Amino acid sequence: MKNYAVIGSPIKHSMSPYMHNEHFSAQSDAAYYSGYDVCPSDLPEAVRAFKTLGVSGWNVTVPHKVDIMNLLDDVDIEAKMIGAVNTVVNDGGKLTGYNTDGKGFLNALLAMTGSEALREMNVLMIGAGGAARAVAYSLLTHGVKSLSVVNRTEERAEKIAADFASIGAMDVYSTNDITPLLPQFDCVINTTSIGLQGEQLTLIDSTKLRSGVYLSDLIYNPSETAWLKTHRTNARAVQNGLGMFIEQAALAYELWSHREANRTVMKQTVERKLGIPHAT
Ligand code: ATR
Repeated sequence: MKNYAVIGSPIKHSMSPYMHNEHFSAQSDAAYYSGYDVCPSDLPEAVRAFKTLGVSGWNVTVPHKVDIMNLLDDVDIEAKMIGAVNTVVNDGGKLTGYNTDGKGFLNALLAMTGSEALREMNVLMIGAGGAARAVAYSLLTHGVKSLSVVNRTEERAEKIAADFASIGAMDVYSTNDITPLLPQFDCVINTTSIGLQGEQLTLIDSTKLRSGVYLSDLIYNPSETAWLKTHRTNARAVQNGLGMFIEQAALAYELWSHREANRTVMKQTVERKLGIPHAT
């Protein structure tokens, strides 16, 4: 039996244990995935314990995604660039950190827009936190016509643009300056936490977005944020963050097992847990 885990704090609402265990069963893997609530001061001890006990791999969530990087033997280049690790592989005691959030987001977005079409799009990213770094990295490496970012705290957006300047250009706008430019965007992505509590996203005036815009929100619980609900009729297509959540988990599984994940099982499991009826 192989052991896997997720560490974070709080962890009790994480759907990862339930999803991965259902998925292990469907794959006939002799494996078990547990959730551990680990406070920041206990992180080094938790990593040592996982190594001692031979835990084969684990996910890392808030608030440890940055701090864990110093506790590993190696960090993959993509995770280094993003500045965060969400997946650890324990290969015979050698711990390597990866970030599957960026690629997970991109795979989910491509399913909505198409790969070539995305390269022709002017994309606006709202927010400049940890999730935004993974999103920006994945968009710049895939290639888009232009990538703009707007954030309440402009300095954080400037920092991402400076950090990623070697990969591609990002245009940083203040919430005031962005307004006349809104009709030019083909795809708008909300990476902020606005909407988690049912609140409306008012950082930009979304009524100014062009008809036929693609809208993507990283939030998946609630399954439709107030922002998506209000503006979906004007959009060509909208998506919540469920696809990204599934993809980051599928990519983590593939790093651990070197087998292809069954994304359908993962999605159905999460939808069941969230009480979302899925199409048969
Ligand atoms: P995560 O790792 O989930 O991205 P984070 O790093 O704390 O979390 O970033 C949260 C993002 O949501 C940031 O862009 C933050 O804006 P600031 O950089 O100005 O803090 C944004 N955010 C959260 N609450 C917000 C609010 N009430 N209004 C505007 N932006 C908000």
